Amino acid sequence: MQLSAVAGAMLGISLIAGHSVWAQEPVVQSRFNLSKHHAKRDASTLMSGGNNNEGEAHGTIKPPKGSTFTDIPVGNGGETIAAYWTKNPNEDKAKQAFIFIHGKLRDGDNYWTIMNDALDSAVKANYPGADEDSIVVAPEFFSTKYNSGQYSKSDLAWPDVNAWQAGDPANHPSGTKLTSFDALDALVDEFSNSTRYPKMNNITVAGHGGGGQLISRYAAVAKDPPSNVHVRYVHGDPSSCAYFTTDRPSISGETLPSKSSCPEYNTWRYGFDNFTGTSDGLKSPQDYFKQYITRDVVSIVGYQDVDASGDTYCMAEMQGGTKRRDRNLIWWRYVNTLARTSEDLTGFPGSYDSLPDWSNISSNYISTRLIVVENADHNPEEVFSSDEGRASLFKDSNLPTGWRPDGWTAVPSQAPPNRGATNSSSQTKGSSATTGSSSSSSQTTGTSDASTLAGSSLVSLFLLCTLALFLVF
Ligand SMILES: *[C@@H]1O[C@H](CO)[C@@H](O)[C@H](O)[C@H]1NC(C)=O
Ligand SMILES: *[C@@H]1O[C@H](CO)[C@@H](O)[C@H](O)[C@H]1NC(C)=O
Ligand SMILES: *[C@@H]1O[C@H](CO)[C@@H](O)[C@H](O)[C@H]1NC(C)=O
Ligand SMILES: *[C@@H]1O[C@H](CO)[C@@H](O)[C@H](O)[C@H]1NC(C)=O
Ligand SMILES: *[C@@H]1O[C@H](CO)[C@@H](O)[C@H](O)[C@H]1NC(C)=O
Ligand SMILES: *[C@@H]1O[C@H](CO)[C@@H](O)[C@H](O)[C@H]1NC(C)=O
Repeated sequence: MQLSAVAGAMLGISLIAGHSVWAQEPVVQSRFNLSKHHAKRDASTLMSGGNNNEGEAHGTIKPPKGSTFTDIPVGNGGETIAAYWTKNPNEDKAKQAFIFIHGKLRDGDNYWTIMNDALDSAVKANYPGADEDSIVVAPEFFSTKYNSGQYSKSDLAWPDVNAWQAGDPANHPSGTKLTSFDALDALVDEFSNSTRYPKMNNITVAGHGGGGQLISRYAAVAKDPPSNVHVRYVHGDPSSCAYFTTDRPSISGETLPSKSSCPEYNTWRYGFDNFTGTSDGLKSPQDYFKQYITRDVVSIVGYQDVDASGDTYCMAEMQGGTKRRDRNLIWWRYVNTLARTSEDLTGFPGSYDSLPDWSNISSNYISTRLIVVENADHNPEEVFSSDEGRASLFKDSNLPTGWRPDGWTAVPSQAPPNRGATNSSSQTKGSSATTGSSSSSSQTTGTSDASTLAGSSLVSLFLLCTLALFLVF
């Protein structure tokens, strides 16, 4: 472990220690010592004090064979997002573009190659929908801590190395307010330009791991894409998603942190508390839920993705324990139950005491699909080179389900309802929308109410969080 990581962990522990001491007091803001650049909305950045330290490794930029490294304008203030891009793209003929997001290591070059290889092999296999003129793009979310000298004067770069996963603002160029969501919007806009790309019809925004986190959130909060293109959002193996309500699951055989021991469990990146919106404004969690379930969203999960790595903060563990796979399978249960679909959830892990009925928003139907790749670990190559992964990128309809639990039965697919126009005015803002379970009901540690939190619980909380921090770093 490097010195900086040790220092970061120690800082984290002292913050957590302070956290426990204050657990029964009103929220004390000064326990977070953030520079003015750190967004105040992302709980992961708050918890780390801006010192999340994953994947700093980056050598000199070397575009992989077949690609070039370029800058694409974001907004009107002169900022750009750096990206690996298909060299000499056939803009007149391209019908599809793939925007492929790196994971926590921020290695856009590797991700460009993984996506380009997936395209090449699908084209060679004459896979329906795989078009040799497709354009592959892998943006690079630089860190101002680790990548100085690698990004240009105009390139966006982020402070805490994980902040881009939550759609947080960059801190380079100095004074910028643009976020990673704005960068994705700019790439979608680029391919929606029908003067430049006259045949473009399909834009696929896909990410894995940290990139899967960004896409799971982007699918819910992105502005509506221009009407001349169809956007598919593919999120692979994220460590956490943004819950639309304050409900959290229990899971048999695991003791999950409780709401009272983990006060930031619903703060943005993990839920919608403190979310400040996008350049498209701030909508209610119900509005974002509606966007998520009405768009072409594919959740793809490696069934072997069960190591206790990735995000080990209590906020993430409250989404389904230590295993990323379980968190994502439980997310499927969550979204289907909120929407009151007829999807069979037999055998899926997790349970919720009572989730609100949002069928008034869903009409009992979601467009979201779940694909589980039985033999894939937490590995983007395994996920996206599998038959199911290939389908998630190139297949128009009837996507395979991949693995399903014993006893599960397929429900014949329905036609999507005609939902009519969004009526935001009837929705409440913020997290007050939740009408679900009370904080004590679904927790496995029945006595962990704030009012009854005993000294021993504080000690175990401290130990749990300390352990979590060492796993994070
Ligand atoms: C919300 O953001 C404020 C700063 O704007 C911060 O002090 C507070 O702790 C955050 N709330 C939560 C629940 O994290
Ligand atoms: C916050 O960080 C600044 C800069 O590192 C430091 O000068 C200051 O003492 C810190 N404040 C607290 C309360 O830790
Ligand atoms: C679309 O692309 C054309 C050709 O490159 C360019 O002149 C035009 O400014 C672009 N339109 C927008 C809205 O960016
Ligand atoms: C849907 O129902 C929920 C719970 O009853 C309510 O909070 C929400 O406002 C309703 N939304 C719409 C669009 O009617
Ligand atoms: C391409 O777009 C069409 C709508 O124009 C959609 O039906 C189809 O599913 C999309 N295909 C992919 C692979 O995203
Ligand atoms: C939207 O909701 C508001 C408040 O409930 C209602 O007054 C209005 O008629 C609704 N608009 C539509 C188009 O349904």
